[in-house]
Amino acid sequence: MKYYKKKLIIEKINFQSLAHKFGTPAYCYSYSKLKENINKFKENFKSFSPLICFSVKSNTNVNLIREIKKFGLGADVVSKGELMMALKAGVPPSKIVFSGVGKTIEEINFAIEKKILLINAESKSEIQEINKIAKRKKKIVKVGIRLNPNTDAKTLKQISTGKSENKFGVNSKTFYELVNYCKNSKNINLQCLSVHIGSQILDHKPYEKMLKVVSNIINKTKHSFEFVDLGGGMGISYNKKIKKKLSYKKYNSAIKNFLRKHDTKIIFEPGRSIIGDTGTLISKIIYIKDGGSKKFIILDAAMNDLMRPALYGAIHKILPVNKSNSVSRYIYEFVGPICESTDKFVTLKKFQKLKESDFVAICDVGAYGMSLSSNYNLRPKPVELLIKGTNIRVIKDRQKHSDLI
Ligand code: LLP
Repeated sequence: MKYYKKKLIIEKINFQSLAHKFGTPAYCYSYSKLKENINKFKENFKSFSPLICFSVKSNTNVNLIREIKKFGLGADVVSKGELMMALKAGVPPSKIVFSGVGKTIEEINFAIEKKILLINAESKSEIQEINKIAKRKKKIVKVGIRLNPNTDAKTLKQISTGKSENKFGVNSKTFYELVNYCKNSKNINLQCLSVHIGSQILDHKPYEKMLKVVSNIINKTKHSFEFVDLGGGMGISYNKKIKKKLSYKKYNSAIKNFLRKHDTKIIFEPGRSIIGDTGTLISKIIYIKDGGSKKFIILDAAMNDLMRPALYGAIHKILPVNKSNSVSRYIYEFVGPICESTDKFVTLKKFQKLKESDFVAICDVGAYGMSLSSNYNLRPKPVELLIKGTNIRVIKDRQKHSDLI
């Protein structure tokens, strides 16, 4: 994404023409950015050729999952719906892992029927349930156990998952107990230890710590794990002013160190680092309203289209679609039309002068943008477009009111 002759462009198309043609709000994804992210990810860890399972929760668009699959990636799913979507996109079951603290009997049944690579169980009750179902079906089911390593991911509290106070995984004591349970079961084949300590991680040290914990626990169990699933969580740069960046090099060498002691295959479950910066939400200014010390820029995109600011206080960069050299003397607060005070994207002190009907681009919304969207206030969901050079593909139609009413 860059400016060309003062127009913001994605690949070879300018956002303004997309807005005119497809209406707003609209999610636009860049194919070349997606390709670049996947290739970079693979390159970073190529020495041990991990299985990379795209975390479908970050973006559930079937056409995007299909493109990602073409690069050889598998899928990490957390519900029957996501599993069905990954299969619909053509992801081979042998590359699908299923996580989640509350898999229902129906979901476990479905995963077993589809012969996916691993069901990563997160509690004693779940392992017992899998065992019961597998026994009834006279099948041997490949499972992983998710460990809660009690490691601080040093990220937002709301997206930390690896501390003992979090609901995810099991502690080391239960882990040992479950390893024994699996060893004694004829219907369970324990193949994996999985962990995921959180999301939007920008420091490699929590990963290093987590690997140490995992290494110790594997040593104690004396079980040979075919896979160690390290989850996802690799953070991206939402704000170029924040210099902190995850060092893939250091994470990679920590894993290589780990692999010197353990003969196992690594699985990753990245979401944001694959799809996050590929997506942009274009929106039109409906009204500009005087708010005393500031001006409210009322957009046609709202918290139902992009929930992250309201839910986590996340900040997404906003750019004008047509650049000018003017600077507004007002503070701008970019808000949506929804009846909630948290329906607010960002407040900016310095921005170019804007007028009603102008378009703006909300950046880096490819992950947890559309997938967290809702129909709150009975607002139809935006159209999704995939841009490849000069080619534009509608990868999901805009919802119509008639779909909702
Ligand atoms: N694996 C597991 C088990 C997970 O729970 C998650 C994310 C991932 C992989 C992918 O993590 P990623 O590579 O995308 O960081 N809605 C929040 C993020 C929630 C993440 C939930 N789990 C946000 O908008 O920031």
